[in-house]
Amino acid sequence: MKISLSPATPEAWSGSVLALGIVENDPQGLVATMEQRFSLQLADWLKQKPFSGKPGDCVSLPLLRGDCTTLVLVGLGAADDVDRDGLRLAAAAAAGAAIGQVGTLGLLLPWSNETPEEDAAAAAEAVRLALYSDDRFRSKPEPSPRPDQLELLGPLPGGFAHGLEAVHPVCAGVELARELVAAPPNSVTPEELARTASHLAHEHGLELTILERSDCEERGMGSFLSVCQGSDMDPKFIHLTYRPNDEVKRRLVLVGKGLTFDSGGYNLKVGAAQIDMMKYDMGGSAAVIGAMRAIAELRPAGVEVHMLVASCENMINGSAVHPGDIVTASNGTTIEINNTDAEGRLTLADALVYACKLKPDAIVDLATLTGACVIALGEEIAGLWTSDDTLASNLEQAAMASGEGLWRMPLHSPYRKGLKSLLADMKNTGPRPGGSITAALFLKEFVDAGIPWAHIDIAGTVWSDKGRGLNPSGATGYGVRTLVNWIRNQAGTTGT
Ligand code: BES
Ligand code: MN
Ligand code: ZN
Repeated sequence: MKISLSPATPEAWSGSVLALGIVENDPQGLVATMEQRFSLQLADWLKQKPFSGKPGDCVSLPLLRGDCTTLVLVGLGAADDVDRDGLRLAAAAAAGAAIGQVGTLGLLLPWSNETPEEDAAAAAEAVRLALYSDDRFRSKPEPSPRPDQLELLGPLPGGFAHGLEAVHPVCAGVELARELVAAPPNSVTPEELARTASHLAHEHGLELTILERSDCEERGMGSFLSVCQGSDMDPKFIHLTYRPNDEVKRRLVLVGKGLTFDSGGYNLKVGAAQIDMMKYDMGGSAAVIGAMRAIAELRPAGVEVHMLVASCENMINGSAVHPGDIVTASNGTTIEINNTDAEGRLTLADALVYACKLKPDAIVDLATLTGACVIALGEEIAGLWTSDDTLASNLEQAAMASGEGLWRMPLHSPYRKGLKSLLADMKNTGPRPGGSITAALFLKEFVDAGIPWAHIDIAGTVWSDKGRGLNPSGATGYGVRTLVNWIRNQAGTTGT
């Protein structure tokens, strides 16, 4: 999709779909302007719809004219309450209403005086992400026309187009993450994730190391390897690196959970556990791969970024791990596997040990780790655990700026006793209450004290059955935009 600024006013703009954000009571008089331009009884028609300019209000009116085929009005709510999230949702709604039309979508929203560039970039992102569709797996895709150009109208500072430069790299990263998550588990396998990383490395000049099973054995990654004992597919430990052109001021590590399918193992997922959706258990790896794609294109200065994914499947056969097995992670910690379905943390444990050996300034892991996090925060908010307040606030700020929901949760160390094992250093599963907290505390055991580390549980946010905001139904690509914002902010700072 081509994105540009247009100096045209809504009276004069011509194209396919004209979409206007309408503030309650329409102080800008846009409805009257459209009545005049197109000779319509628009105000009367809107009363019947009903349309009052509230957030979520959206109407579409075919005009059947050469200079504009469709008029779309989106409500924004009270003028004083319009914020960037409101603009983002309105842009996504406008894009949704434009599906079915081809050509150019013209979008006018009340860009704030203080940050018009960020507003316009957020709206452009929302439009591209809301128009995304995925026909890869249909034999005969139904034609679904959509606009292929976006023009942003309104008083935007001239020469500002560079503010839009990040839109395409970031959206390409989100779309890559969505495609990886949505693809079925017979398509996105550990090998396929490694292939995707290799493709990125070649296309965008990243460094790539893949550790095969034997390499992981040599490194003593007994925790990771226990998870794939019952799978016919080889595990892949994927390490991608972005190096800036200039001096490295900050070294960051992103870690993603990469279970391409999670059957639960011998603690098989039964009943309400939704085994059929467990292709999305590689959502963390998809987010970090998508973020690396964006970072590789944006090439921020001063930051070195490593991405680690210990990828495999959690399956069952005669070699699969038994509930009760004791395994040894690469830092020597022994783990009693009292539940084979708490496998994500077993893979992350060895990835975090590896991450610490890179002596980074910060580590952030993303994982579809616990059903408990879904119960706690639902599907619009991911959980954040860290003992580093600076890292917490930087990640919260990055999430806020991207419109992705993120809420800090307690890393409550007294719950660590729930992981005590009679025989080994620890168990992999604690009691059901507070299950996402003990999961985070388990991970903490594998991070060297002194290295700022944050864990983000995306089990709820990775997928949306109904779709919402900028996410059509299905994989959301959650996390890419937060991570990219965080990394780009890191480029200019010395704090975590
Ligand atoms: N991949 C699941 C977590 C999950 C659940 C993600 C629902 C998305 C939606 C994870 O491996 C898992 O099975 N966790 C268990 C942990 C339990 C056994 C301690 C869970 O949450 O039930
Ligand atoms: Mn599991
Ligand atoms: Zn899992």
